[in-house]
Amino acid sequence: MLEQWVDALVLDPDGCYVDATFGRGGHSRAILERLSARGRLLALDRDPEAVREGERLARQDARFTIVHAPFARLAQVLAGHGWDRVSGVGFDLGLSSPQLDQACRGFSFQQEGPLDMRMNPHEGRPLSAMLSSVSERELARVIREYGDERYAGRIARAILRAVRDGRMNTTADLEHVCFHAVPRSYRYGGVHPATRTFQALRIWVNDEMEQLRQGLTAAIGHLRAAGRLVVIAFHSGEDRIVRDVIEQAVHPCTCPPQFPMCVCGRKPSMCWVQKKPLRPDEREVAANPRSRSARLRIAEAVS
Ligand SMILES: C[S@@+](CC[C@H](N)C(=O)[O-])C[C@H]1O[C@@H](n2cnc3c(N)ncnc32)[C@H](O)[C@@H]1O
Repeated sequence: MLEQWVDALVLDPDGCYVDATFGRGGHSRAILERLSARGRLLALDRDPEAVREGERLARQDARFTIVHAPFARLAQVLAGHGWDRVSGVGFDLGLSSPQLDQACRGFSFQQEGPLDMRMNPHEGRPLSAMLSSVSERELARVIREYGDERYAGRIARAILRAVRDGRMNTTADLEHVCFHAVPRSYRYGGVHPATRTFQALRIWVNDEMEQLRQGLTAAIGHLRAAGRLVVIAFHSGEDRIVRDVIEQAVHPCTCPPQFPMCVCGRKPSMCWVQKKPLRPDEREVAANPRSRSARLRIAEAVS
C-alpha cells in the first residue's frame, strides 16, 4: 500500500514531513521522490539497525534526517530539531522484514533464537525477563487481548510451567509449548498455533499500544492546517487505537447530546479523509502475503 500511503501523505513538495517508522526506508525514499529541493523529511525508528540504514541515506540526501527514538517521543524529537508544525506524519506499524527474518532478534517462531523481541535491544527487558516475573492471569490477558487467541489461558499456563521447569529458553521452546498447549484439532490447517501468541508477546514487550497512542497524539498536535496523518496498521487492536485517537480529534466535544449547542468549547482539530480503512487488493496480497491484514487510514488537520 506504499503508493496509496505516499499519495495520501505528500501534498506539498516543499513541505516538512515525518516518517515515524523508518524500517529499511522504502516509505522514506518514496516520500523523498515526491519532495522538491526545499522539502524536508525527518524519520524515526527505535531499532538501532534501522537507524544505521537511515544514516546511510542521510549521507546521500541532505533533505533527510534520521533519529533513533521511539515515536512516543515525537514531540521532543520535533522540538529538538526546531520543527514546530509539519505537513504530514506517516506511520507504517509493526515489524520490518529484516527484524522478522533475523533469528537473533527473537521475533520468529520459524527460526530458533533468543527470547528477546525488543525492537531496541538496548532498552527495556527482553521477553525472557518479562516471562520470569509475570502472573498467569496477566499473561493470559496479554495473549487474549493482543493476540485474539481463544486458547490464551491454556497457552499462558503452559508457558509459565515451562519457565518454572527451565524448558523455556529459545523461540523454538516457545513455539513447541504453544503448539502442544492447544487442542489437536487447532494445530493443523489454519495459521500456526504460535502465530497469535508471538504477535501478542511482541506487542507486550515493546509496549506498542501505549507507544501508538502517544505517537498519534503527538503527531496530531504538530500538524499544520491541511497536514496529513496517514497510518498503516496490521493488527486490529492497533487499528482501533488509530480510529479512536483520530475520532477523538474529529469529535472532541464533551457536551451531553441533549444540549442544543456546544458549551464545552472543544473544537475539532482533525477531519477524516479515509475513515473506512483501505485494504490491499488481491494482487498486492498475492505478491506480499504479509500485507494481508493491512489497513490504511487517512486524516487531515483542520486548524
Ligand atoms: C513495518 S516496519 C516499517 C517499514 C518501512 N515503512 C519501510 O519502508 O521499510 C516498522 C518499523 O517501525 C519501527 N517501530 C515500531 N514501533 C516503533 C516505535 N514505537 N517507535 C519507533 N519506531 C518503531 C520498527 O522498528 C520497524 O523498523
